[in-house]
Amino acid sequence: MEIYHGDILYSENREKLNVYENSYIAVENGLVEGIYAQIPEKFSGVEVTDYGRALIIPAFSDLHVHAAQFIQRGIGMDLLLSDWLNIYTFPQESHFADPSYAEPIYEAYVNDMIRHGTFHACIFTTIHRHATNILFKKLEEKGLRALVGKVNMDFQSPDYLCETTEESLRETEIFLDEHSGGERVKPILTPRFVPTCSRELLWGLGKLGKKYQVGVQTHVVESRWEAAESLRLFPDCRSDSEIYEKAGLLGNGPSVFAHVIFPTEDDLRVMKEYHCTAVHCPDATNNVIAGIMAVDRLHREGLHLALGSDIGAGQQNGIYRQCAAAIKLSKLKEFYEPELGKTINIADSFYMATKAGGEVFGNVGTFEPGYVFDALVIDNLEDEGHPMTPAQRLERFCYAGDDRNIIARYLNGSFVRNA
Ligand code: GUN
Ligand code: FE
Repeated sequence: MEIYHGDILYSENREKLNVYENSYIAVENGLVEGIYAQIPEKFSGVEVTDYGRALIIPAFSDLHVHAAQFIQRGIGMDLLLSDWLNIYTFPQESHFADPSYAEPIYEAYVNDMIRHGTFHACIFTTIHRHATNILFKKLEEKGLRALVGKVNMDFQSPDYLCETTEESLRETEIFLDEHSGGERVKPILTPRFVPTCSRELLWGLGKLGKKYQVGVQTHVVESRWEAAESLRLFPDCRSDSEIYEKAGLLGNGPSVFAHVIFPTEDDLRVMKEYHCTAVHCPDATNNVIAGIMAVDRLHREGLHLALGSDIGAGQQNGIYRQCAAAIKLSKLKEFYEPELGKTINIADSFYMATKAGGEVFGNVGTFEPGYVFDALVIDNLEDEGHPMTPAQRLERFCYAGDDRNIIARYLNGSFVRNA
């Protein structure tokens, strides 16, 4: 048993931030036992780690990130998606054919995610299985939770970053076999997006999804170009999402759709039916996508939403920064397309970043009893003589803080050293 003292804050739902000022959180075997204003009699004698009035919050979940693009963050950000992929991203990803190229980049990525308090992530790698396994092992060794996908591309892709359909399916099945029974880090099917996947590949992956009971992550209606291209290639489908549905890829595990910026009514139907997670990646939206997710409308439609860094279309790992960026973009959305929704607030975006995102990985993302104590201690946000409420300090952290404000990290209930 361990007890931590501070200003404890977590999301209960979209509207509600639960705040326990000057309180104690008890942790037993790595799981939250309860939160108390005073230490209960039954815990007398248990050592207390006192963080004063620092915030204690759940660690973040990044529901969409390309670990192999960590090395290109902040580069080529003047381009739009298709050019950015062809000029920067595809050539860069091709180097991951060499595991010795991949190793230091994945090491740097994993260390950086821990530094920024992201302890759970849905991760794209590249088409290369051997390099993907290097990342897989590092995540496992650190005790992080992740869904990791070897990317599939067999169509309309450059020669240097393209598989045959047969090879793509075979390598994916080996990857699934290698990691069946993974405890905290698990495989997920990862067709890059419709424009780089043949029908045979998508339908073949659907069969693997059913056989191995494994979910799927991909990019869905992320740009007008991508949405139109998907329907051009699959004229028998009514929406980008329906392609994945008909391929048999949905309902076998988590379905995680990045961006969802231009959904049709049929996309919404599919996403509701299969409880897909739609991932808002505000930095990527600004950098290479140039469309804005209608967060408020999608929430009102009942969709499950979370946040993603989308490195390298996004440029940094801090999901707390995506909380702020999501609020900023929602204002632009309301201003230019008021019918698509209202400005969201910090309760909304912190919920997406923690409890909603965490749901995909199990009992993480909140401090309700029984949840894993994956936690961050946040401090040094107040100006001398200007006290702020815990919710205000959270908001300031998201807008103006950085990893230096994270003074301690707990992963699976244990203190993280050397972050
Ligand atoms: N669509 C297909 N590939 C990618 C990628 O690597 N990043 C983003 N943001 N969108 C994509
Ligand atoms: Fe992406």
